[in-house]
Amino acid sequence: MSQFAELTLEGKTYQLPVLEGTEGEKAIDINKLRDLTGYITLDSGYKNTGATKSAITFLDGELGILHYRGYPIEELAEKSTFLEVAYLLIYGDLPNKEEFFDFENNIKRRTMVNEDIHKIYDGFPVNAHPMGVMSALASALAVFYPGSISAHPKKDYDVVDLQIKRLLAKMPTLAAWAYKNSQGHPVNYPKNKYSYIENFLYMMFAVPAEDYEQVPEVVDALDKLLILHADHEQNCSTSTVRLVGSSHVSLYSAVSAGISSLWGPLHGGANQEVIEMLERIKDDGGNVDKYVAKAKDKNDDFRLMGFGHRVYKNFDPRAKIIKKACDNVLSKLGVHDPMLDIAKKLEEAALTDDYFVERKLYPNVDFYSGIIYRALGIPTNMFTVMFALGRLPGWIAQWKEMREEDQPIGRPRQIYTGAVNRAYVPMEQR
Ligand code: ACO
Repeated sequence: MSQFAELTLEGKTYQLPVLEGTEGEKAIDINKLRDLTGYITLDSGYKNTGATKSAITFLDGELGILHYRGYPIEELAEKSTFLEVAYLLIYGDLPNKEEFFDFENNIKRRTMVNEDIHKIYDGFPVNAHPMGVMSALASALAVFYPGSISAHPKKDYDVVDLQIKRLLAKMPTLAAWAYKNSQGHPVNYPKNKYSYIENFLYMMFAVPAEDYEQVPEVVDALDKLLILHADHEQNCSTSTVRLVGSSHVSLYSAVSAGISSLWGPLHGGANQEVIEMLERIKDDGGNVDKYVAKAKDKNDDFRLMGFGHRVYKNFDPRAKIIKKACDNVLSKLGVHDPMLDIAKKLEEAALTDDYFVERKLYPNVDFYSGIIYRALGIPTNMFTVMFALGRLPGWIAQWKEMREEDQPIGRPRQIYTGAVNRAYVPMEQR
């Protein structure tokens, strides 16, 4: 491979360094481009822009490959647990027994949240969307632990490590409480005899003075879903976490920004939108073809939610695993969900339609996840919160890598297209 790319501008030729990643991905390094030429590059939506080098997650959109720290997602989903994957993403390697025991215990010891944070819930309206509540409360953590703003993951290792464990420990509590609050029900305090996933389910669903019975199939399915969502390289919310974190604000604030970014219907919010779309199709008589036609109609704003992906142009490996898990969970729990029939019909119709084939639009991770969440009893407005709980280790790992490498503050440029040098006219003369 050539070490340089040549660029000719206004009769002058420049050599720009070429880089290659460990999986063969190639890039032209334009770090010095503006200094050398006076030009910048323009790439709306960053479709061709590498914002960073990273050793965390590799994905190949054409081949449908996803690896966390070199391990294929299929293997991790089958053999690992969410907390083990969290450790892998954040610290770089799979933990041995002692390391895992220590990690898990440290998290278990921090699942309680300050009672003053509990009071913040009272300030939200009863039907507040839990994603808004989660973002606000993640941000509130920065205020409750103010000494930790600006901490550096290498220079202040213990401080940052505590922030990481606090976040992993407290987010499920904050999420379950957001749900309980939206129901007007009393919250359940964490019970640390439970595993990470069991504890979340307990806080979500236990009713006062009744035993709470854990269902292994439910625990396993949720664990798998969180693993599948744990990281996805430089997506919208992760880039947000890196960008916000690059100003050296605290990890809590950067994660809060990530949650807000994830909420959008074009990103994590799609899992809620998928179920709402399937319900709409069902209530409208189940006419799948009508909705496929609407999605293709450029005069109609309707899109098939859960279809298409910025990077995957062949298939989304996570969607494959989820579809199989969906069938398993539904049959193990003995649930028949008419939404699944509609989803399968919709997938079949879209995958054989030229519009979707030509544009390489396939079901993404969110297409079937909502159906599993429904079967597990998770309410629709909590779907994106589940995604956020899953993505948390990825955000943490990416933030940590960015800060450890002392990356500069993110500050894109622009091509200005507005008015030029206008003279001010006093209001009475306009
Ligand atoms: N339904 C109908 N048409 C679609 C869809 C869809 N879901 N997705 C893309 N298209 C069409 C576009 O209209 C466009 O058509 P054109 O070339 O004729 O103008 C073409 O396919 C390319 O689409 P873009 O929006 O340019 O693709 P982009 O990479 O910018 O967007 C995105 C990707 C946002 C995921 C898009 O496919 C979409 O909106 N999907 C639905 C929302 C969704 O499921 N989001 C979750 C993504 S996964 C995640 O974040 C976890």
